Amino acid sequence: MNKPVILTGDRTTGPLHIGHYAGSLSNRLRYQDSHEQFLLLADTQALTDNAHDPGKVHRNVIEVALDYLAVGIDPDRTTICLQSHLPALAELSMLYLNFVTVSRLERNPTIKDEIRSRGFGRDIPAGFLCYPAAQAADITAFRATVVPVGEDQAPLIEQTNEIVRRINATAGVDILPEAQAVIPRSGRLPGIDGTSKMSKSGGNAIPLSASPDAIRAAVRAMFTDPNHLRVEDPGKVEGNVVFAYLDAFDDDEQGLDEIKAHYQRGGLGDGNIKKRLEEKLQALLAPIRERREQLAKDRSHVVEIIRRGTRRAHDRTETTKHEVINALGLIQL
Ligand code: TRP
Repeated sequence: MNKPVILTGDRTTGPLHIGHYAGSLSNRLRYQDSHEQFLLLADTQALTDNAHDPGKVHRNVIEVALDYLAVGIDPDRTTICLQSHLPALAELSMLYLNFVTVSRLERNPTIKDEIRSRGFGRDIPAGFLCYPAAQAADITAFRATVVPVGEDQAPLIEQTNEIVRRINATAGVDILPEAQAVIPRSGRLPGIDGTSKMSKSGGNAIPLSASPDAIRAAVRAMFTDPNHLRVEDPGKVEGNVVFAYLDAFDDDEQGLDEIKAHYQRGGLGDGNIKKRLEEKLQALLAPIRERREQLAKDRSHVVEIIRRGTRRAHDRTETTKHEVINALGLIQL
């Protein structure tokens, strides 16, 4: 039996961090056996809001690929591919733009939020406004039926399926499958400063490549409970970044429950909980960092892995493109 096809990806705007590990990379490691997995280095999509800095997008293709390989993504079981080198994705994007309206794009909650938070207003780059159609192209070109994304990206999958239904209705045949969003249960990790989101650009992330000293410094600087001034004081667990991370990275649930209760009762200092977290993070990141350093010595090997995956993805996406063109009754010379 064929395995279900899964597609995920990352914009290549910066190296990945422990939030990516908790929210997506650890799941991707598991999907390598159960699914046919494609990982998209989304450099074209990264340009939709980074067109002023293509060098950054370019540089980070290798950085993100290094992160994938360092955490244990196996290029023989997972196809790592580069968006800009898959012309079918761009061609399908153009086609899909005829099956979606500007008002629908503007109503997409993901886009709406981003327009607001970045203050784009009407000066939104057209590519950015239209990236839901491009993401629909990515998903359908691989015939992915499973798409793990953060909660904030769920509306993109909904919009993908709307486009799929329109294409299928126009073609009169179910030429494309609908996709299902898989949202991680754990939710998103906050930044070390306690803001809602850990982000590559926010300066509040712990990159997977962080040095032992950087990890230590980040844990020391971590936001806890601002009212927990003395060790004897009762402390708050909610909104406390150290506990949010312990929930994500400490498997000893029972031990963790006891520590939480102790902290809430009073008598447990921030230094103690930070020490526990730092040990967990050092243990998690040490082998990843070592592998990454090893891999980074031979960049041409990484490029070759991307090239090989992109070739494989090329065949798949071209096939789908031709199927869609045929089904829609467009001419092929
Ligand atoms: N939008 C995703 C991100 O910002 C990247 C991405 C591009 C993606 N194409 C995709 C994710 C297709 C899932 C499926 O990280």
